[in-house]
Amino acid sequence: MNSAPFLKVTNLSRVFDVSRPWLNRLIERQPKQYLRAVNQVSFELERGKTFALVGESGSGKSTIAKLVVDLLRPSSGEIAFDTGSLSDLRGQERRQLRQRVQMIFQDPFASLNPRWRVGDIIAEPLHAFGLVQSKAERSSRVEELLETVGLAAADQYKFPHEFSGGQRQRIAIARALSANPEFLVCDEPTSALDVSVQAQILNLMKDLQRKLNLTYLFISHDLSVVKHMADRVGVLYLGSLVEVNEADALFSAPRHPYTRMLLDAIPDHEMSGRSRTPVTGEIPNPIEPPSGCTFHPRCPKATEQCKQVTPTLETEGIAQVACLHAS
Ligand SMILES: Nc1ncnc2c1ncn2[C@@H]1O[C@H](COP(=O)(O)OP(=O)(O)O)[C@@H](O)[C@H]1O
Ligand SMILES: [Mg+2]
Repeated sequence: MNSAPFLKVTNLSRVFDVSRPWLNRLIERQPKQYLRAVNQVSFELERGKTFALVGESGSGKSTIAKLVVDLLRPSSGEIAFDTGSLSDLRGQERRQLRQRVQMIFQDPFASLNPRWRVGDIIAEPLHAFGLVQSKAERSSRVEELLETVGLAAADQYKFPHEFSGGQRQRIAIARALSANPEFLVCDEPTSALDVSVQAQILNLMKDLQRKLNLTYLFISHDLSVVKHMADRVGVLYLGSLVEVNEADALFSAPRHPYTRMLLDAIPDHEMSGRSRTPVTGEIPNPIEPPSGCTFHPRCPKATEQCKQVTPTLETEGIAQVACLHAS
């Protein structure tokens, strides 16, 4: 029995050089500028489970997704799958990972080739990874995949524009599944969809996870979506994790003031009557982040100390929280 986590991310950082061109800097006497999009992020993901990353736009979610699927290289830190560290994988092993790990994006229209028929879009990974040997095998696999995501066999002859947004996301999911992956990185998979359609896609993703024992890294800016999907949740603020906990515990007893702020932004359907503070303030400029705790300018609990001291992510039982005044 292999007890290593499916994915282990350790002190992952990614810095972007956002300097103006050399000549501009010379004339304007400006130094180089760097943006720390991901800052010392660590988390683990068990096989068959869902870890969700949540945070406002610009918090570094997509950058982490791209690092994990090997579309971007880390500036420092390590990404290790159960088969070994991503940076050590070569040739055949790297190719294998390309198959094991698939990504689903927010905008399925952008990720589906508009000039290809749906059948060809779905079959492409089958060919790329040598998963089918004959035409007959290909077409039965395509039909099976369409059915798996709730579409009809005849849909393979249509083009992406003939479908609704929700159906297009189903096509994108079918394409991801055709590679026989173990791990799906889902970056805001339902954020572009109507609320009613969102629920259908989320339910589909949950069913698929159960049936196929898939592991998910699920990314969303919306905690109410995360609530339906996640086993464990990491809350990101300006590239750093500020709170990590099991989903139930995080939703019932948020520890970090930022988590509380995000929770308060969820419409109160249950009419719990809980006192609410609206989301206030704006995300600071990530090129010049605030001193100390980067959340302090927006934090209702901030003290003088929070401007000076950068809190580290402290582990307490199953929870982790980075706040000098955590509740
Ligand atoms: N290729 C890039 N070059 C420069 N800055 C980038 C690049 N990609 C992302 N960023 C910046 O990194 C930060 C995090 O971005 P991103 O990971 O897309 O956040 P999110 O997905 O949470 O909205 C943002 O400030 C963004 O502007
Ligand atoms: Mg994003």
